[in-house]
Amino acid sequence: MIRSCRAGQGRPALVGCTPPPVDAPVDREVIEFQRLHKSYAVGGRAIAALQPLDLTIEAGEVFGIIGHSGAGKSTLIRLINRLEEPTGGRLLINGEDVTALDAEGLRVLRRKIGMIFQHFNLLSSRTVASNVAFPLELAGTPRAEIDARVNELLHTVGLEAHANKYPAQLSGGQKQRVGIARALATRPQILLCDEATSALDPQTTASVLKLLGKINRELGLTIVLITHEMDVIRRVCDRVAVLDAGHLVETGPVTEVFLHPQHPTTRRFVSESEQVDEGELHKDFEAVAGRIVRLTFLGADTYEPLLGRIARETGVDYNILSGRIDRIKDTPYGQLTVSLVGGDVQAAQAGFVAAGVHLEELRR
Ligand SMILES: Nc1ncnc2c1ncn2[C@@H]1O[C@H](COP(=O)(O)OP(=O)(O)O)[C@@H](O)[C@H]1O
Ligand SMILES: [Mg+2]
Repeated sequence: MIRSCRAGQGRPALVGCTPPPVDAPVDREVIEFQRLHKSYAVGGRAIAALQPLDLTIEAGEVFGIIGHSGAGKSTLIRLINRLEEPTGGRLLINGEDVTALDAEGLRVLRRKIGMIFQHFNLLSSRTVASNVAFPLELAGTPRAEIDARVNELLHTVGLEAHANKYPAQLSGGQKQRVGIARALATRPQILLCDEATSALDPQTTASVLKLLGKINRELGLTIVLITHEMDVIRRVCDRVAVLDAGHLVETGPVTEVFLHPQHPTTRRFVSESEQVDEGELHKDFEAVAGRIVRLTFLGADTYEPLLGRIARETGVDYNILSGRIDRIKDTPYGQLTVSLVGGDVQAAQAGFVAAGVHLEELRR
């Protein structure tokens, strides 16, 4: 099974890799939810937005949370920097109980956590540079230091040429870049993204996600991202959790969850993102002879000329019924639904499995 384990680049070991020695100093933030839950009081009644939740987000990973509108995503992410007060349970960041912090502790915590929003939340009366400078002014940073830092940040997000413009003069993508620069100003270790690309067109979404990926790689920032789009998860996240009506219903590496979704809600997100109508596809199967299998190739296997070779060796004819070859973050994958006719079908299937391809029989 693929785990979110990435070696090199001076990163700490993540889940599934060599565990750090006990009592080793931790220099990166780990976010740990322990039975954390949240209800809102509405008209004198408690409405549960988030059921007791156990979840660990590892330092340095891009962690995605996907769910439909009202699933509890914003509640969950806002509990991390305590923009929402939990109803019960604990939240630990790097072992520190965030739920127990006083006002001063909270101020220190929030400097370690940046946040970006769907509608950017920029100050319309301030220029781009001045928006980015704002958190540094609040932190009492000296002017010269602020100016140098703002230049550096505008360079990071590619907005050097727009420093003196006002938000109203910018495109959506540029506004979100300002949001990102502002969120990074105080050198946080964690970046929270609440539907950060949901107001953007697909092309702009792709460029903002690319920027988030770069920030994660180059600054080693932990990113927690919530979205209702599986494609956002697929492009940038290492692991994902699926929220359904306040319940965490599935969690795992994106390569696992995306390619082999278990929960009906997850399946729906995946088939929506692939624009495959499972019902229609299965209807089409009726007109097709032979055994029908779904083959999933991951990593370098994706580019092996395996289908042709196995067909030749076993005398099996194949017909591709549907398929997609793409990437999950940096990992290439292919997922093909094929019918196998004639020849030694059993040997063909064994050949795929022996080559490390995941094979699922859809019809015998
Ligand atoms: N301040 C609030 N007061 C009362 N109910 C709320 C409040 N914020 C959110 N909710 C409710 O909690 C549930 C989860 O909301 P939210 O976390 O915003 O979901 P999402 O971000 O996934 O759309 C919804 O049913 C929503 O109506
Ligand atoms: Mg929301």
